[in-house]
Amino acid sequence: MEFKILFGTETGNSEGLAGDAQKELTDQGFKAEAVDMQNVSVENLKEYKNILIITSTWGDGDPPANAENLYNELKNSSGIDLSNLNYAVFALGQSFYEHFCKTGKDFDMFLEKFGAKRLAPVELSDDDFDTGFPAWLEKIKSTLLSKS
Ligand SMILES: Cc1cc2nc3c(=O)[nH]c(=O)nc-3n(C[C@H](O)[C@H](O)[C@H](O)COP(=O)(O)O)c2cc1C
Repeated sequence: MEFKILFGTETGNSEGLAGDAQKELTDQGFKAEAVDMQNVSVENLKEYKNILIITSTWGDGDPPANAENLYNELKNSSGIDLSNLNYAVFALGQSFYEHFCKTGKDFDMFLEKFGAKRLAPVELSDDDFDTGFPAWLEKIKSTLLSKS
């Protein structure tokens, strides 16, 4: 089973988690690659089978700079068919911001809208990703193993 782990980041937290996930999934026998969202388009999403999206929210509820293109492409698209895609979103943020984890929530909503299959509910991390992320990844792995 093959995985792309797409990260959206400003200060590196999400990128670090994507690297952890790549190692963890590879050790588990999956083929997994962490990918900077900057290098991903909707056309790529049509070809992928399984993705994990790990992204922070920045500014005033905005996507990180490296996630902007994909975010806007999905936001402004219509009629895309992503029904062959499985996905799960891990959202980093801090709840004292008005738009808590908005970017992750939006990616989850965009992908659902275009028919992609959600592997788990979007996970909202309130600055506790050190503990929350390993638990979330375990959940995703067991969901996948039960499918395969
Ligand atoms: C200037 C600034 C703006 C932020 N804006 C938001 C926000 O609107 N909503 C939110 O949930 N978190 C917000 N955050 C929190 C970040 O999402 C959080 O620090 C995250 O761990 C950063 O991950 P990254 O290093 O992958 O970018 C903000 C943080 C900073 C420093």
